[in-house]
Amino acid sequence: MSEYRIASIPGDGIGVDVTVEARKVLDAAAARHGFSLRWTEFDWSCERYTQTGSMMPDDGVAQLAAFDGILLGAVGFPGVPDHISLWGLLIPLRRAFQQYVNLRPVRLLPGTTSVLSGRTAEELEMVIVRENSEGEYSAIGGRHNSGRPDEFVLQESVFTRVGVERIIRYAFELARTRTSRVTSATKSNGLIHSMPFWDEIFAEVAAKYPDVESGQMHVDALAARMVQAPDRLDVVVGSNLFGDILSDLAAAVTGGLGMAPSGNINPSGEFPSMFEAVHGSAPDIAGQGIANPVAQILAGAMLLEHLGETVAAQAIRTSVDEVLTAGAELTPDLGGTATTTRLGTAVAEALR
Ligand code: NAI
Ligand code: MG
Repeated sequence: MSEYRIASIPGDGIGVDVTVEARKVLDAAAARHGFSLRWTEFDWSCERYTQTGSMMPDDGVAQLAAFDGILLGAVGFPGVPDHISLWGLLIPLRRAFQQYVNLRPVRLLPGTTSVLSGRTAEELEMVIVRENSEGEYSAIGGRHNSGRPDEFVLQESVFTRVGVERIIRYAFELARTRTSRVTSATKSNGLIHSMPFWDEIFAEVAAKYPDVESGQMHVDALAARMVQAPDRLDVVVGSNLFGDILSDLAAAVTGGLGMAPSGNINPSGEFPSMFEAVHGSAPDIAGQGIANPVAQILAGAMLLEHLGETVAAQAIRTSVDEVLTAGAELTPDLGGTATTTRLGTAVAEALR
């Protein structure tokens, strides 16, 4: 029987609640499908920062390196500035483990009220491939002339040929396993250095995949298309910032942030990959036991898929669909009155 070693970092706010439910569902899937998960939990969080002055220990990366996968809740909470929590935990892990692909599948789930309701899951199914290691999220820059009338800041972007090419190639490879269409998010009319470079590399890579249909759109128009004609999109590839924004939008049109999973993937397999919900720690509802655990459960399904447990991953998605269609155990964001625990337990029970 295969056993996988999984690191769990519940983090902050509702990250803790939804991770408990995802573990419950993953353990049920493992029991049902003949493998086991050996969990190790890490308390790395804003709470730890408040007590010790750091989000994770100095050797945090080394502690995680030997795991088969990482399940992450959410990082960030009022009281600790977001740039400290993000750069103290999430971003160092993504970079140290070369998780240069941020994969965000989007599917209209049953039982949800979307601005696009009336459409079916088949019509609205896409995946966002977000560059996850460079681009606009860079530490290069600075604040100058602080407090003076001529105060200014510089925030640089970093786009490397290696970084841009590998994420675009990943998108084309992924498209070959799907409907074979890639759309690139650009903004070469406004960002006159980085985006023309991105577009040029996109064209070079596209030429090597003549079997895959490809095109590019300015990110603002692409955002509108995502709402008005999402059936014309399949694989969408974008820079770190564009991919971040587009995936929250995609989540919103398919029933909300509580439903959208994501994977930080190291395609070479040299380092562990890390799976998390798209949403954050939701301080406005933290501690109330009402967060929707579906996004984190589906992130867990992506983790199993990554480990090669494809059947178990599909079984989890089917169970989620069943529970949402039945409609008896929906959390408040879905119009119901169920708690996080009741929805999670319903999915785990549907698996057995
Ligand atoms: P958020 O995603 O935490 O919340 C946005 C809104 O969506 C809130 O109204 C929240 O109640 C709702 N929401 C989110 N997830 C939900 C769920 N599972 N069920 C029901 N409702 C849900 O984003 P926000 O408020 O911008 O950020 C809060 C904190 O989380 C910040 O510190 C931020 O830095 C952090 N964050 C962390 C992320 C990560 O760990 N990858 C990603 C995004 C934000
Ligand atoms: Mg985001």
